[in-house]
Amino acid sequence: MPSVLVTGSSRGLGFEFVKQYAADGWHVIATCRNPEKADTLKALAGGSDGRVTLHPLDVADIHQIDSLAASLEGHAVDVLINNAGVSGGSFGGGLGDIDYDMWEQVFRVNTMAIARMTHAFLPHLERGDQKKLITISSGLGSIGGNDWGGLYVYRSSKAAANAVTRSLALDLKDKHIIAAALIPGWVMTDMGGPGADITPDVSIAGMRKVIAGLTLDKSGTFISYEGKTVEW
Ligand SMILES: NC(=O)c1ccc[n+]([C@@H]2O[C@H](COP(=O)([O-])OP(=O)(O)OC[C@H]3O[C@@H](n4cnc5c(N)ncnc54)[C@H](OP(=O)(O)O)[C@@H]3O)[C@@H](O)[C@H]2O)c1
Repeated sequence: MPSVLVTGSSRGLGFEFVKQYAADGWHVIATCRNPEKADTLKALAGGSDGRVTLHPLDVADIHQIDSLAASLEGHAVDVLINNAGVSGGSFGGGLGDIDYDMWEQVFRVNTMAIARMTHAFLPHLERGDQKKLITISSGLGSIGGNDWGGLYVYRSSKAAANAVTRSLALDLKDKHIIAAALIPGWVMTDMGGPGADITPDVSIAGMRKVIAGLTLDKSGTFISYEGKTVEW
């Protein structure tokens, strides 16, 4: 059975990734900051016949990333999904509202963690058959698509996540690793809010289809949950 590792799986899109991959028979390595407090995830794992395993991981802490990778040494990861994300509160707001300490923290979670997760889990990805590295980005990270400004903190963290993903795609091509940045759409989660366009099940079903169809020639691209290639 293939395996997928998901960061930030306590709720929202991460939880829905876990739910759908587990229902499909995958082995899911579900990571989140506080597994003890993630009741719905714990219940899902408990009823999964061991298909879903829970692991504590704060992706802002590179030592925790390295420890988890070491504890899973020898395991294969077919698909690594860097999903954990933060908005920075109001997505960083306007020019006068920026909390610069918060901006640093948002970069740790939304951007820097992608590089460290990839570095730490490279042996696991190489051992997997599918070798797919997924960044859950955002349409707000598109520089070409930014035609209304603002949201400095969140936009920059996701644009930088895209840059990281593109470099990973180029640098890891000779290892046959496929890296892509995905746009989930505007989704009804704690981050997206109740007025968003789509439900998590629609977004995740779309992104899983995109992930399943990824080939090496698509590596280094930015793709919506509907399968459309988007400009950086
Ligand atoms: N919802 C949307 O409309 C939308 C649109 C575009 C992109 N996205 C992106 O999609 C991803 C998931 O968002 P969502 O809508 O599911 O958000 P959400 O409902 O706010 O959930 C965020 C998840 O990230 C986790 N997380 C935050 N900081 C973390 C850290 N330091 N280490 C590990 N996990 C951490 C949270 O864990 P805790 O429970 O421990 O806080 C939670 O599981 C994010 O990357 C987001 O930027 C979302």
